[in-house]
Amino acid sequence: MAPMTRAFSPGGVPGTDVAQYYVRRAAAGVGLILTEGVWIDHAAASNDANVPRLFGEDALEGWCGVVKAVHAVGGRIAPQLWHVGMTRKPELEHLYDKVEEDLTVKFSPSGVVTPGERIGTGSTEEEILAVIDAYARAAEAARAIGFDAVEIHGAHGYAVDQFFWGKTNLREDRWGGPDLADRARFGVELVKACRERVGPDFPIIFRFSQWKLQDYSARLAETPEELAELLHPLAEAGVDIFHASQRRFREPAFSGSALNLAGWARKLTGKPAISVGSVGLSRDLLDTFASSEPTLVEGVSELLERMEADEFDLIAVGRALISDPEWALKVRDARAEAITPYSPEALRELV
Ligand SMILES: Cc1cc2nc3c(=O)[nH]c(=O)nc-3n(C[C@H](O)[C@H](O)[C@H](O)COP(=O)(O)O)c2cc1C
Repeated sequence: MAPMTRAFSPGGVPGTDVAQYYVRRAAAGVGLILTEGVWIDHAAASNDANVPRLFGEDALEGWCGVVKAVHAVGGRIAPQLWHVGMTRKPELEHLYDKVEEDLTVKFSPSGVVTPGERIGTGSTEEEILAVIDAYARAAEAARAIGFDAVEIHGAHGYAVDQFFWGKTNLREDRWGGPDLADRARFGVELVKACRERVGPDFPIIFRFSQWKLQDYSARLAETPEELAELLHPLAEAGVDIFHASQRRFREPAFSGSALNLAGWARKLTGKPAISVGSVGLSRDLLDTFASSEPTLVEGVSELLERMEADEFDLIAVGRALISDPEWALKVRDARAEAITPYSPEALRELV
């Protein structure tokens, strides 16, 4: 199951309804649940008080309940560690309208959220190290609670990705530079810090993307060689699995090859890779936010062909699993006609 923000955890504490939401999927054939993004323990990480935290006794106790319940039905679960960085601003966050905290405190490489517009100052070395420490503490807490792995949210234009992207990272110190290899440092250091806290045998998944909330056509890497500049040091730092976020898994990542972004991550690093994007659905993520029409259900034969050819190892399913908790079982049993098609209406409740 792909990580999907649902904002049903009042005060940042996931309750039994959140546990049951994940249990329904785990009990119906979902092998690994990547939770909705969860806040790490840093004052400027969040922009919605109903999104769960991974710190504080109350929230950790809530997560303990979720993990136990998912394990009881044979599922596996990993939290997605999230810091919004410079996007801590309501106008960009069409999904988050319940802002209660002071949004003027922000963390970012260079005070840029929209390319070309510098609206703040970059964070200090000390602040950067504090955020890295907050990721590491979250990873340690995840392991202590009994989660099966952690996923670091390094995608979609949020904090980590703001360091990767040349349009939001204008730094000239050791946290920035002209090459993606230079801008990889923040991600690399935080993976190292997480690895140190969780030990050698606890899986660290790293999610990255070309597209950003700020620019859907943005690209971090124009060539496979450039992508390797980012992924090689991350793999060396301790990433076990790369999760390449794409809006449509069918799309090639670079010209001249049919491989998608996960396919390239696997080929370049030799690590297992997770792909994602419009599985079982006819319309991509952005189209479905723009319209309330149900999205048509499509077959998964191309997905199976690509997986059988070892292009990537795991597939994350997002929206299809929101509207139908039994999507995986129905696909496995070839009962596509029984699948409830995705519609944004399904986001209103936690079913
Ligand atoms: C309601 C919703 C919330 C999402 N929240 C997150 C999130 O917290 N973290 C993340 O990395 N991606 C998030 N995504 C993106 C999904 O993980 C996934 O990559 C995207 O929906 C494409 O997969 P799909 O076509 O199967 O839905 C979200 C998507 C949706 C629809």
